[in-house]
Parts: sequence; structure tokens; C-alpha cells
Amino acid sequence: MSALSHSASSRASTHAVAEPPEPDFLPLKGTDHVEFYVGNARQAAYFYRAAFGMSLVAYAGPETGQRDRASYVVEQGKIRFVLTTPLRSDHPIARHIARHGDGARALALWVDDARRSWEETTRRGAKSVTAPYVLRDEHGSAVLASIQAYGDTIHTFVERSDYTGPFLPGFRAVESDPVARPVGLKHIDHMVGNVGWNQMNEWVDFYARVMGFSLYQHFDDKDISTEYSALMSKVMANGNGYVKFPINEPAAGKKKSQVEEYLDSYPGPGVQHIALATDDILLSVTKLREQGVEFLHVPHTYYTELEGRVGKIDEPIRELEELGILVDRDDQGYMLQIFTRPVEDRPTLFFEIIQRKGSRSFGKGNFKALFEAIEREQAARGNL
Ligand code: FE2
Repeated sequence: MSALSHSASSRASTHAVAEPPEPDFLPLKGTDHVEFYVGNARQAAYFYRAAFGMSLVAYAGPETGQRDRASYVVEQGKIRFVLTTPLRSDHPIARHIARHGDGARALALWVDDARRSWEETTRRGAKSVTAPYVLRDEHGSAVLASIQAYGDTIHTFVERSDYTGPFLPGFRAVESDPVARPVGLKHIDHMVGNVGWNQMNEWVDFYARVMGFSLYQHFDDKDISTEYSALMSKVMANGNGYVKFPINEPAAGKKKSQVEEYLDSYPGPGVQHIALATDDILLSVTKLREQGVEFLHVPHTYYTELEGRVGKIDEPIRELEELGILVDRDDQGYMLQIFTRPVEDRPTLFFEIIQRKGSRSFGKGNFKALFEAIEREQAARGNL
């Protein structure tokens, strides 16, 4: 798939956000890619190809003239991940990995004008990480610039209208991938950040003031709590609704919140989960399970109460229970979702697989069921 066909046009929930009163100063065409800093990019790429079914499409490293690090680009549908590892122990990326383990570093956003995106956001108070710069190779040029987000996470603006290569200048195409086992994942639905105690509103304000996002949904600790653990969450969305960033902070409970466990383990604020959309969650999750992806266990009682809570749905409840898929409904329809276990040994980043059938929700009604499942795992690690 060429970079130019990486369109956001068919993303879910594109009409849900009210038009902002002023012209959008940061028009986004969608998520460009997510870059992870990892201890061994070759092996991490293999995991995403064999387990999640992504295809290796591009590579940059010493063989392509990039002497200090190696990067593998994997794709499925419109989802694009970059796995990057440093080749020297004194490299800044090595310090990121020493502190955080493997984790998401850059949530890159696809724009028409990276210079203007950087100028508009830094003028409104964003801290610049990298001023606009141009990359060139025989396939054309691309412009990139980065600003700081929560913790050590950054947003990179990617302008690629003059570029026809496999990813970005400097990357070499990988023509075919014998390892990839696609599972029908289509696009990124949302990417969630965990921030510290009482920091949620600060970051909600950052996305509103600096990036022109607006509040899409919010949940308080009455919605998202169990006896032991709680969190608060607000979902911020950009003007056209293509990009949604829920922001979580821990809330007080009798025992340690799952957000607090993340903050202690990462440590500090960072990306908690990335939700990947599918049109057929039964098929996708069946394949993901066959390929070794581990999901949170959902208690049987969840399914005995399901039809009473969400009403009639197309999918057989027995199949949903076998796969551990959760269901939630709002006034627009329903959605199906499932959460993986963390994909690192630290209890940090995990993935969500989501299928929307009209619903624009993020699974508010499932938080309790999900939390109880997460807490059983937390207790098994001795962290509850
Ligand atoms: Fe989610």
C-alpha cells in the first residue's frame, strides 16, 4: 500500500463532534503512524507481524545509511506502527528504553502543512521537540516537526504530499512479508493516555487550547470504578473526529488504581492503550487468539447479564463468551470490544480491538467488568 493511500476517509465516528466555532487551526487527516521505542526492533516487529498480523513494508538502518538506529515499519489496513531501536547504548532512545521499557514514543499525525501545524501549536504554548525539517530521497520529500505531549510522549506532524516512497525518506521498501498473518484490523479508533493524579484536566486543556480539540465524552469515578480501584477519563477529539485521545487519571479507591500501577511501572504518564478497529471482531479475535495474542479474562457472570444490559445483538452470546468479547450500547447503537493483556513484561501498554455498530461510546458500561478482570490480574502480580 502506498503512503498516499493511507487515507482517513472511512474512519468510524467522523460526524460526532460539533463543528468548532472557529476555523480549525490544526486540520488533521488522521493518524499517520505510532512509533514505539523498543529494546529489539527486529524481534518486536516479528511479534506484530506474527501475532497481530501486520506486514513489514519498510526498513531503515545501517544498510540504508541510518547509522544510529534501526526502524521497522509494519502495516495492516490504515494502521501503521514503526518499531525503532538504538544501535548504541549512549543514544537518547536507549535512555528512553532504560527508563520506560518498550513503549509508545510518538503519536504521529498526518497533516497538509507540518510547518504551520508546528507554528500554530507552539504559538499556543506547545513545547517544541523538533522544529520543522525536510527529509528527501529519490521518492520526493516530506516535512516533519514534533511537539511534547504527556510524559515522554510526543506528537509528530507528518506532511507527505510530495512523497511517494514506502514510508518516509530514508526507508527502503520491503516487497513481501512471508510472516504476516492479517486478521482484518482496519484503522486506529483511539489512543489513550494515562496521566498523573489531578493532571487529567491539565491535559484536556492542552488538547483544547494548543491543538483545538474538543471534549467528546467524559466519565467520572462513579462510572469507572469498582470497590477497589477507580479512574477518571475524558475523551478529546479533533475537529473532524478522525483523531480521539481519551485521557485517564487515577481516582482514589480502596486499593491501587490500574492507572496508578501503570504510572508506577512505566513510570510516569504515557500511552495506556491503542484501540484498533475491525469490521468483524469475531473473526479478528479468533485469529489473534490462534496467533498467541493474550486477552483479559471476562467472568461468566458478565455474559449471563449481557442481554439484559444491552438488548438484542447480532452476535451469538455463546461465541462472544468463548472469545471474551465485551459489548456496550448507547443511543446510537452498540459496540464490541476486547482488551489484550499488556504486550510488555511491565504492566504498561496494551491494545483494544473494537467493532462499532453505530455506537460512539468507549465502553463506559464495560469499565466495571473490565476493571474487575484487570484487578484479578493485578492481584496475581501482587500489586493490588
Ligand atoms: Fe479504549
